[in-house]
Amino acid sequence: MSSSRDLGCDDGHGLWRVAVEVPAAAAGFFEDALSPYLETMAVMELPAGDVTEMVFTSHTPMIVEGFVQHKPDAELLRRCIREAADPAGMPPPELTIEDQSRRDWLRENRASFPAIDIGRFYIHGSHLQPPPAGSRLNLHVDAAVAFGSGSHATTAGCLRALQALAKKRRYKHILDMGTGTGILALGASKLWPSAAVLAVDNDSASVDMTRSNADQNQLRSRITTLLHAGYRHPRIRSGPPYDLVIANILAAPLVRMAADLATVLAPHGQAVLSGLLSHQETAVLAAHRAQGLYPQGRFRQSGWSTLILGRGRSRQ
Ligand SMILES: C[S@@+](CC[C@H](N)C(=O)[O-])C[C@H]1O[C@@H](n2cnc3c(N)ncnc32)[C@H](O)[C@@H]1O
Repeated sequence: MSSSRDLGCDDGHGLWRVAVEVPAAAAGFFEDALSPYLETMAVMELPAGDVTEMVFTSHTPMIVEGFVQHKPDAELLRRCIREAADPAGMPPPELTIEDQSRRDWLRENRASFPAIDIGRFYIHGSHLQPPPAGSRLNLHVDAAVAFGSGSHATTAGCLRALQALAKKRRYKHILDMGTGTGILALGASKLWPSAAVLAVDNDSASVDMTRSNADQNQLRSRITTLLHAGYRHPRIRSGPPYDLVIANILAAPLVRMAADLATVLAPHGQAVLSGLLSHQETAVLAAHRAQGLYPQGRFRQSGWSTLILGRGRSRQ
């Protein structure tokens, strides 16, 4: 059966991938130059993969890529690339434009999606067997139209941060803002089985996916979902103050939402924030310091940062 997300379109629409490979220090210039012409954008490590802290340098190769549903104007994009190369202090990188519309990328992605180990978490799709029962925390998550397969450094950073927190304390009321596939809500629920988790996303496909992943992992009774943008929903505000808030969203929304986060966070609460590039830490921390939230921990992977914040000054 072909899904509406197969993207094999015959109506003049399609899906084109636009990408350049550049050193990490230059990625922001090309991201800014291309973003007005693309519908989604990401900056990722190339090749995918280092998982140690603090190994990222300004020379780490990154891929700046985006997708657009109408055939892009190659000449215009090349001009943008040439203009960005100058302030980035490098020659213009090669521009890749690929027609993706005939690919069932979701199926391909699923098939090529290996199991992922992140500390105690073992994340696998339906095409793979769970590990034998033991001390592993099994997360059954299929690569999906929603974000959150576990392979992205921001998701991995959050899962590492949650495991670090689990060594120190328990949480009862957890809010996962920008839940995607629900992977962090699932992870939190496995780490703190007695916690009630509210998983929120502004994208209905993500909320559906989270519900189905909660079912698939037998966590439906512990994870509630909500379709909403941000913290200003009566169900969030009138709920218990949250002793743990997780938000893997981009830097700009994290900054915008800092005050709202502070209002729903319990006095002794902690927040795990991700989706920011390492050079964006200063801005994200400043916005949260202004709300009385201070850094208590940090994980860096492949150019991305995950921050642990709380009302007390640094515990680490
Ligand atoms: C980077 S993904 C993170 C998904 C998952 N939590 C993970 O860590 O893999 C960000 C998610 O936040 C959602 N999102 C973005 N802005 C939001 C907002 N203002 N309120 C709620 N969800 C938001 C997006 O739809 C997306 O699913």
